[in-house]
Amino acid sequence: MIYFDNSATTKIDPGVLATYDKVATNIWGNPSSLHKMGDRSHQLLEASRKQIADLLGTKPHEIFFTSGGTESNNTAIKGTAIQKREFGKHIITSSVEHASVANAFNSLENLGYRVTRLPVDKEGRVSVNDLRNAIDSDTTLVSIMGVNNEIGTIQPIEEISDLLENYPTIQFHVDDVQALGKNIWDKVFTPRVDLMSLSAHKFHAPRGIGVLYKKEGKMLSPLHDGGGQEKGLRSGTENLPAIAGMAKAIRLLLDDEAEKANREEAIKAKIVNHIKDKPGIDIFSPLSEGFAPHILCFALEGIRGETLVHTLEDQDIYVSTTSACASKTADEASTLVSMRVEDKIATSAIRLSFDESNTMEEADQFIKVFDKIYDHFAKINHLGEN
Ligand SMILES: Cc1ncc(COP(=O)(O)O)c(C=O)c1O
Repeated sequence: MIYFDNSATTKIDPGVLATYDKVATNIWGNPSSLHKMGDRSHQLLEASRKQIADLLGTKPHEIFFTSGGTESNNTAIKGTAIQKREFGKHIITSSVEHASVANAFNSLENLGYRVTRLPVDKEGRVSVNDLRNAIDSDTTLVSIMGVNNEIGTIQPIEEISDLLENYPTIQFHVDDVQALGKNIWDKVFTPRVDLMSLSAHKFHAPRGIGVLYKKEGKMLSPLHDGGGQEKGLRSGTENLPAIAGMAKAIRLLLDDEAEKANREEAIKAKIVNHIKDKPGIDIFSPLSEGFAPHILCFALEGIRGETLVHTLEDQDIYVSTTSACASKTADEASTLVSMRVEDKIATSAIRLSFDESNTMEEADQFIKVFDKIYDHFAKINHLGEN
């Protein structure tokens, strides 16, 4: 089996699962309970928060636990929009965000907020100039992802941060769900970032747990009212086993980060270099510094993405069309459509996403299987014949 779908989700790490199991079995008191059992849980909760903060280079009280990327994004975006509604109702994002950001903006638009969706260039990247022109005195929020989940573009978060130094009242949110552990952290999490989202199942921890970073002093309206956990920002009894597991997973992820990212990039390079000159192949994730090392999106013209996904699946190779979370319903890759890629090519795109456990042997095996599929379809579609 070859699993090249790590941007959809990852396999849980056995050590992380052991931590989850140990905490669920032994430290199951409610962190809010006043007795000894509660105290023990509370201590582990705060130790996990501190460990994550140290690993990310933040302060512990800036780390909030959520149910994952979707909740972190919704809390950051809607929480800012509601909190700052007296000061302005203009909010800015890009046209290539994950559905959890894009649809949060759609909902706010339906509630009367003014939304600017920045266009992207041929590589799926927003322009800092466009952002500069979009900002006005009503703008309260800018939300731009760190790494695009469909093709791997790294957005110019450093340049946007420089620009936003001039607008201290605008809250800057970055969806970094696809960006942690890829040796690009300084590019996608700058001191100007006010809010940042992570999702644990993207790095070998359980589903249903994530982080929202909120910079000290920044204000958000909570979306969950209740018992006041997480300093009132996210009520609900904390998922302590998953939180402790996530802390361990981040430590493991960041261990030898550069070396792991280089290996992922080498797998990507091997496949790109093999397929790039074949007629009918369009590569959307070039081998360049502006792209994450672990995501490779390409199209084989004339074959729908899902057909290729299932043909590879028949050979025990697992990939996605575009964003796995939405790909069951989406007709086209939304990032590619925003890049003005022709519909018939956008619908042919597939996404391979690697992690540190993938090997060069798997890349070789993929190439072997892909060549056979390619030759078969190339003949049917007369690719390369002029
Ligand atoms: C960029 C991005 N943001 C947010 C999410 C949503 O994360 P979660 O599955 O934890 O809700 C995903 C999931 O694919 C993603 O790729």
